Amino acid sequence: PGAALLDARGRPLRDLRISVTDRCNFRCSYCMPKEVFDHYHPFLSHGELLSFEEITRLAGVFVRLGVQKLRLTGGEPLLRKHVERLVELLAPLRTPEGQALDLTLTTNGSLLARKARALKDAGLRRVTVSLDALDDAVFQRMNDVGFPVGEVLAGIEAAQAVGLGPIKVNMVVKRGTNEDQIVPLARHFRGTGVVLRFIEYMDVGASNGWRMDEVLPSADVLARLREHWDLVPLSASAPGETAERWGYADGSGEIGLISSVTQAFCGDCNRARLSTEGQLYTCLFASGGHDLRSLLRGERGQPQLDDDALAATLAGLWNRRADRYSELRSQLSAEPGSGQRRIEMHYIGG
Ligand code: GTP
Ligand code: 5AD
Ligand code: SF4
Ligand code: SF4
Repeated sequence: PGAALLDARGRPLRDLRISVTDRCNFRCSYCMPKEVFDHYHPFLSHGELLSFEEITRLAGVFVRLGVQKLRLTGGEPLLRKHVERLVELLAPLRTPEGQALDLTLTTNGSLLARKARALKDAGLRRVTVSLDALDDAVFQRMNDVGFPVGEVLAGIEAAQAVGLGPIKVNMVVKRGTNEDQIVPLARHFRGTGVVLRFIEYMDVGASNGWRMDEVLPSADVLARLREHWDLVPLSASAPGETAERWGYADGSGEIGLISSVTQAFCGDCNRARLSTEGQLYTCLFASGGHDLRSLLRGERGQPQLDDDALAATLAGLWNRRADRYSELRSQLSAEPGSGQRRIEMHYIGG
């Protein structure tokens, strides 16, 4: 392999996040508010989706270019029919140095108890589960479909039992909505090996009505945890990591803080995102993507590319990448996204 592929700000390409469906059985208000994503919403049709073979082929080219981690997302990825078949196709991929990939998946946990075994057998390494509250009433209000917290907890336990770990749990913190769940969730997962991570509520997409006053800064989350436990900073486990890690001083585990709003981490962002229909986005906040599906299929006036030509095209796209939305956010107008169309989280995954 030649010199490492870098973008216009010197950042390598390491992490590919693949959205496998734009559908979800939850309606979290910060992601797919019910009023917008109702039954008139035009979700993608089957022919628009990349097939598992197409995804695998693209992933293989990305791995040639330096990707070491693949994350399946959605919407809710476990709603994609036979998703374990895709895991099976991706699991044998190796880096040019012969290393296995970090192959993982982000799920809301609702179908995890049922699917954990099949995912593990297919070659999935680990999972990240979204969970915003331990209290059933708060959780049901947040997922907005009345889904009980007990079933998500059962999913997490099932994943742990089959060895899909270390498991991470992501909590999106909204001031005034679930801030009282920070300490209960920490208490629940402390000492279990599960890493709980607190995510600042972000202004992704254009439909969640984001307001800065609903963001609880990670510094406040940390202060609240420190009223109960002694926490010490840990060093990053990989360059470009989203979370700042903190360990319980008594050795009973760790937590993470993902502070995209108050402490942007664009400086070493090494993530690319592939949408369900094969658009490549080089930033979570991008307003447009690059149509890779047409290049795979030779559609819409595009020539059909072989793997070498695809690799060259992707390398060119990455070379030109200069995105750093979170760093610029504070300098932009008070109205996030004003005048700019942005992709939705349910469409591109986390
Ligand atoms: P690990 O390898 O398990 O640490 O995963 P990760 O942190 O790469 O991925 P995960 O999906 O767990 O990301 C957690 C959350 O961080 C996502 O759901 C997003 O809310 C947020 N996030 C991840 N990547 C980015 C990013 O590039 N930019 C911003 N602004 N937020 C991100
Ligand atoms: N702000 C922060 N995190 C979000 N997620 C979805 N929407 C938002 C938002 N507006 C998180 C989910 C999940 C992951 C896929 O992205 O909670 O953990
Ligand atoms: Fe579904 Fe996850 Fe979005 Fe909630 S955050 S609506 S679970 S995709
Ligand atoms: Fe990466 Fe864009 Fe997120 Fe910055 S805002 S960390 S560039 S995805």
